[in-house]
Amino acid sequence: MEATARAHSNIALVKYWGKRDETLVLPMHGSVSLTLDALSTTTTVRFAPHLQQDVVVIDDAPASPASQRRVSAFLDRVRQRSGTRSFAEVVSHNTMPVGSGLASSASAFAALAAAAVGALGLELSPTDLSKLARQGSGSACRSIYPGFVEWRQGERPDGEDSYAVPLHPGGAWDVRCLMAVVSDAPKPVSSREGMRRTVETSPLYASWLSSVPRDLAAVRQAVATRNFSLLGETAERNALKMHATALAAEPPIFYWRQETVAAIEAVWALRNRGVPAYFTIDAGPNLAVLCQPSSVDEVARALRQVPGVTSLISAKPGPGVELLKGR
Ligand code: PMV
Repeated sequence: MEATARAHSNIALVKYWGKRDETLVLPMHGSVSLTLDALSTTTTVRFAPHLQQDVVVIDDAPASPASQRRVSAFLDRVRQRSGTRSFAEVVSHNTMPVGSGLASSASAFAALAAAAVGALGLELSPTDLSKLARQGSGSACRSIYPGFVEWRQGERPDGEDSYAVPLHPGGAWDVRCLMAVVSDAPKPVSSREGMRRTVETSPLYASWLSSVPRDLAAVRQAVATRNFSLLGETAERNALKMHATALAAEPPIFYWRQETVAAIEAVWALRNRGVPAYFTIDAGPNLAVLCQPSSVDEVARALRQVPGVTSLISAKPGPGVELLKGR
């Protein structure tokens, strides 16, 4: 009744921003991400008949009531599937700060899904695991797979066709990602709330939606042909569009800080000097800077000089979810 799993986080190159079904976590459109080796969550789940409720410990501290509820609601789905009524003890360790736009929920729910399923001895295909992880946090469905991954939006109301698939032959393409951390404080507006407000109130949302298919096609082509500038240009443009769309919501959603802008300018200065580097930004103030292995050192040097960049996390394409211990 116990299993441990590890999953790595992912950075979206074409962002998921907006749900068409909040309960099943179904997206308004597809997205593409790169799974990263440096950011991971390792989670042990132990179902025990004597427990009176689920117990959740994250990074050696009891989870907040909100996180506790979210994990319990997720475990309810797994319990429903397996027929067990036992509560569980969940112990989770992250290699990155939680809730800061470093995509901790992606690795967290991918690891939780695999560990919970493993602990109960359920046999799930990677596709079914992706669908399950999606219901914890949308972006978690992509962390089931290594490297470049596409989340197909699907059309069915039951969500059975909304899951991630690996983008081949992208798997072995060594693209680097430097996370320029300007703040590891929890973000002021959760991505859940940010998406909801953007869909409901942003007059730019329709334009965002109609522009995503072109970005998806460009990123698929970039991965298939290993065209780094096409990948980077598309990812950067897509991130700016997502943030512009959120900024037009009422009240506005603005995740950046002045250090974010300084880091953006440093990336543009690198490009002006002929160094191919492109940024993307999730729902937070931190930049993820994409570059090729040969320019990692130069890009890192430039980012370190940006006032307010407190740390740099250097990542390579990472593996899919792994069951470390259990059935
Ligand atoms: O999976 P969530 O609910 O944490 O939302 C993720 C939202 C973004 O990180 C901004 C975009 C994405 O596709 O990962």
